[in-house]
Amino acid sequence: MPCKLAAGNWKMNGLRADLDELHKLVAMQPGPECGVLICPPATLLAPMAAIAEGSHVQLGGQDCHTDSSGAHTGDISATMLADAGARYVILGHSERRADHGEASSHVAAKARAAHTAGLIAIICVGETEAERDAGRTLEVVLAQLQGSTPDGANAANTVIAYEPVWAIGTGRTPTLEQIAEVHDALRAAVPDAGMSLLYGGSVKPGNAAEIFALDNVDGALVGGASLKAVDFGAIIAALDAA
Ligand code: PGA
Repeated sequence: MPCKLAAGNWKMNGLRADLDELHKLVAMQPGPECGVLICPPATLLAPMAAIAEGSHVQLGGQDCHTDSSGAHTGDISATMLADAGARYVILGHSERRADHGEASSHVAAKARAAHTAGLIAIICVGETEAERDAGRTLEVVLAQLQGSTPDGANAANTVIAYEPVWAIGTGRTPTLEQIAEVHDALRAAVPDAGMSLLYGGSVKPGNAAEIFALDNVDGALVGGASLKAVDFGAIIAALDAA
């Protein structure tokens, strides 16, 4: 059985002053069985690890290099993320694919590095608005899934996040039917049927419960609404109740 996961992606947000939000999350009731995850900027991983130690809140990185160390100025390796206290790493987020030209084959190589370092890879897939309008959503998403998931990926080391590019940070979400269509197709296509499938893109306290009620949605990857513990806490509670 896939397990439920509420994952927060802080993106390039968060200073030491914001560590208070993590203190608040740690003080909340433990959420669903796979827990609660915060992926802060790399600068906050170590201080967050100290705060979250022994709690239900787990930590993750937002990207990693394919190598474990070496001459790659500005990059961070999966080994370093694990060393700083991460258990997960987000890979192939659409902002990485768009801003850094990451192709699916590159994402798969990063996922391999994550697995080698003992991290769980959260591999993101999702169509642009133009691709959806052209009726190519399933084709695009399934091709990204296939190209970004390395050999050896299984329910214990990989999570898939469906994030329509046009829904990220826009306040727009697909209809429940559209989310269900993609998640059903992903469930049939993943190499291990037990993999958790997250939905991401403008998840808020107000829409979380109806999204989590869908059959093949096992949680969410949350951007903006994960920055404040009160909002993320409401989303975690909705997942717990689903
Ligand atoms: P959002 O971002 O919740 O702010 O739309 C989601 C994401 O990019 O993971």
